[in-house]
Amino acid sequence: MSWTPWVALQLDLLAQRNLIRERRIVTPLSGTEVLDREARLVTFSSNDYLGLASHPDVRAAIASAAAEYGNGPRASPLVLGHTIYHQRLEDRLATLAGKDRAVLFPTGFATNLGVLPALADEDTAIFSDALNHASIVDACRLAKRQGAEVVIYPHLDIEALERGLRTHRKARALIITESVFSMDGDLAPLVELTRLKSTHDALLLVDESHGTGVFGKCGGGLTEHLGVQREVDLFIGTLSKALGGLGGFVAGAAPLIALILNRARTGIFSTALPVPVVAGVLAAIDTAAREPERQIKLHGGMQRLEVALNQPIQSPIVPIVLGDESRALEAAEQARQSGLHLVAIRPPTVPQHTSRLRVTLSADHTPTQIDQLVAFLKKVRDGNSAKMRR
Ligand SMILES: Cc1ncc(COP(=O)(O)O)c(C=O)c1O
Repeated sequence: MSWTPWVALQLDLLAQRNLIRERRIVTPLSGTEVLDREARLVTFSSNDYLGLASHPDVRAAIASAAAEYGNGPRASPLVLGHTIYHQRLEDRLATLAGKDRAVLFPTGFATNLGVLPALADEDTAIFSDALNHASIVDACRLAKRQGAEVVIYPHLDIEALERGLRTHRKARALIITESVFSMDGDLAPLVELTRLKSTHDALLLVDESHGTGVFGKCGGGLTEHLGVQREVDLFIGTLSKALGGLGGFVAGAAPLIALILNRARTGIFSTALPVPVVAGVLAAIDTAAREPERQIKLHGGMQRLEVALNQPIQSPIVPIVLGDESRALEAAEQARQSGLHLVAIRPPTVPQHTSRLRVTLSADHTPTQIDQLVAFLKKVRDGNSAKMRR
């Protein structure tokens, strides 16, 4: 089949399965409100957990850095893209993660894609949670091409992981997990994982993309909250969620970070982050430290939702699993009619038959906005159970 009919066929196959994706122009109006197709909606779809992306101090820092440097880097970090702002941010992130040293990457996705292959060879066994993010899945694929053995263990299944660690035949083992799972909002058993990693002399990598800023007194994530910063070997993070910017990083012991800096292709062969973005993230970290009430407010919102829905909520990510794709699309449209901005999350982002609305909370949500969400979710829940009874 030549290209034109092949492309048409692929799009047709997606459409038949309700899996066509399209972007809409959405204008942020405030921390929690957006304009979408001329409707003013309260959004519960943003990863700006602490409401820092548009904070006045962050805006001021971005403007001042832009006036000083323009966009900045003009080349990769190893050529001339690494400015004093980048170094300051790496130092701050290392402290946040409780590690010696950190290195920045263009995105969180690029961080995972760079880090795993930098550590993998034919003597490595990689153990990855079944629900790890696509960037980890793709990183495992790259590591496999370098001869590593990749074992996907069932989600959160410590026993299966332990069996795998006991029986693999490689010289070195590595465990990789998210701390807060991006689509389900549940938490990795980090204390048990640190015990396993010590018993089996494995390296433990934790992706704290959704934990940074959200957990830990200093915002150092679930690893800080559970007191396991020292045992976690590599802390992988993104600047694009609670820190409100763009970019990724990995933090760890100095020799490990030196090796990653020298081998991770997504860091070596890509331009450094724009200086205003870096300055904005530095300001966001300062602001989060100066305004600890943001984290407290976020957890207050989680509690309010937990009580109102009468279901346990472990993080600001709350999945409303609806099953098939058309049901999730329908619910997203109903949300819009109720003044809410929620999107349908469908495969391949989530497994087949688990399409859902993914609710995310922010420190900026008011109690009234949360109550508006609760009223809508109760309607969805009632509608869903009526459908299932039919
Ligand atoms: C667990 C996890 N890791 C990595 C990423 C990628 O981060 P970024 O958006 O900075 O590329 C995401 C983003 O959704 C994520 O959820």
